[in-house]
Amino acid sequence: MKKKLIAGNWKMNGSVASNEALIQALSAGAVDAQCLMAVCVPAIYLVQVQRLVAGSGIELGAQDVSAHESGAYTGEVSAAMLREYGVRYALVGHSERRQYHGESDAAVAGKAQRALAAGITPIVCVGETLAEREQGLTEEVVKRQLAAVIHTNGHCISEIAVAYEPVWAIGTGKTASPEQAQHVHAVLRAQLRAATEHADKIHILYGGSMNAANAVQLLSQADIDGGLVGGASLKAVDFLSIIAAASV
Ligand code: 13P
Repeated sequence: MKKKLIAGNWKMNGSVASNEALIQALSAGAVDAQCLMAVCVPAIYLVQVQRLVAGSGIELGAQDVSAHESGAYTGEVSAAMLREYGVRYALVGHSERRQYHGESDAAVAGKAQRALAAGITPIVCVGETLAEREQGLTEEVVKRQLAAVIHTNGHCISEIAVAYEPVWAIGTGKTASPEQAQHVHAVLRAQLRAATEHADKIHILYGGSMNAANAVQLLSQADIDGGLVGGASLKAVDFLSIIAAASV
């Protein structure tokens, strides 16, 4: 069985001092972890955190990557630049980027493509809003979001990771039930199976108010291969208990 992957998404949080304290506590607490671990940090802190996680088993992740290779794209950071600083994972298409930065499915697919070309695993985020769920559109929405990435990335698709993050569960304290999450994960797995014979090795993470209390149940579902953790990744004790839940 593949190891689970627990990735923290710090979002726009942290400081030089708090990053140091957090990574020190995580490194000390995660020595026996049996899962894969990553922290996706603000771009400005990648260099600092690269140094802090060295030798700890915690991988470095970015929260976004440009869909362009290089050139006149003010403010953007390319996949090749991220790779130079040891970045192993990059979130693409997080719902906050889709919502506040107008990222389309096509843009997200382009970002995944750049990440893959640079040897970075894109963690492709998909998820429905509350209104979409209430209209019965959940499957349609997540399949459309993933289809764009599959279409653009063809045979490389087995190198991606996916995160199912229902928008209504992000930062709200409302977690999808294990059954609700498993249902969508199974839909995504089936879609990946139709695209690659290696679909079973793809990590499909759940994200949205994952915490120490609900992690065990969520992570015990057949198609939930890990977690993408926001708020609870900012506190070492909470993140470590999710790591422990994924280490069984
Ligand atoms: P929360 O864990 O804070 O709900 O955030 C989830 C998320 O958006 C991770 O990318």
